[in-house]
Amino acid sequence: MTIEQSDHSTELTEHPDRFPNPGLPPHRPRLGDEDPKAAKRSERLVLLLFTVSVLASIAAIVGYFAIPVDPEAGSMGNTHLSTLIIGLGLGLGMLGIGTAAIHWAKSLMNDHDKVEERHEIAGDAQTRSTAIEMFNEGAKDTDIARRPLIKGALGGALALAPLPFLVPLIGNLGGDWDISRFKRTAWAPAANGDRVYLATDPTNRRIKASDVTIGSLFHVMPWNLPEHPDYLDEKAKAVVLLVRVDPQDLKETEERASWSYDGIVAYSKICTHVGCPVALYERETHHLLCPCHQSTFDVTDEAKVVFGPAGRALPQLPIDVDENGYLVAQRDFDEPVGPSFWERER
Ligand code: FES
Repeated sequence: MTIEQSDHSTELTEHPDRFPNPGLPPHRPRLGDEDPKAAKRSERLVLLLFTVSVLASIAAIVGYFAIPVDPEAGSMGNTHLSTLIIGLGLGLGMLGIGTAAIHWAKSLMNDHDKVEERHEIAGDAQTRSTAIEMFNEGAKDTDIARRPLIKGALGGALALAPLPFLVPLIGNLGGDWDISRFKRTAWAPAANGDRVYLATDPTNRRIKASDVTIGSLFHVMPWNLPEHPDYLDEKAKAVVLLVRVDPQDLKETEERASWSYDGIVAYSKICTHVGCPVALYERETHHLLCPCHQSTFDVTDEAKVVFGPAGRALPQLPIDVDENGYLVAQRDFDEPVGPSFWERER
């Protein structure tokens, strides 16, 4: 609110925390206000930025389809390139809309100075109708009716911008909703009955029980999994953490007494909360921690949850050793790995 000059001394004496209203600086017209050519240049720039957004969104969608991620090819190159193009497309798509809107507002929309009265609380009917008036006035100020090209470009950019988010989502989820595949992993014995060896992730070396010292932690996957046709999908389900503790520390139920080998226990690495990889091991407390929301599992007590939002223990992989001392899985997990909701039937 403007404070009249004659009231300054009284205002300042009674309210020392107030200061005189300095008023608005003199209005300075922009280049485009006085020069139609400059306004045209700004309009072209806004159009260009919206067009960049449209092209970037299209590039992200094309990149998703044109660069298929093919784990069978045994290379991560495609995955990196596909992710890079989709990410750049999404980023430039959003950036184009944002910069175009800012430049449009700063260089082409009406540039009147306006004073907004301060008030203690908002929300009475008068305020709301004033807000609606201002909104309508603002819409008029965009001058969009006189700029059909910008209107079209804005519509195109806004319409395409969500697609780079939606297309991969639909592409990945569409079609195959068979959740039974979440109930089996590559630890299941082969068709000929051969059990699956535990191997280091990612170096794919078989592990001897004697390699696993007390307190050590191994990131483990089924041996030779990289040769599987669905390597990445299968690995996402089968990753395991292998830990050795003093056998006397293990609190095993009778049912699980044969699931460990001389203090060596194996648990799914996929958090039962929302599926982050559990990767932190506290040797002193025997706790496994999930870095996402701090769910904590007790390795000595069948990986039961001792803290955090996870709803159930980490599934345990029953293990054994072969005649040469190499660790093998006795069979697949007895329950689905990962977030608990996969247990439910649709
Ligand atoms: S995903 Fe592990 S605690 Fe949330």
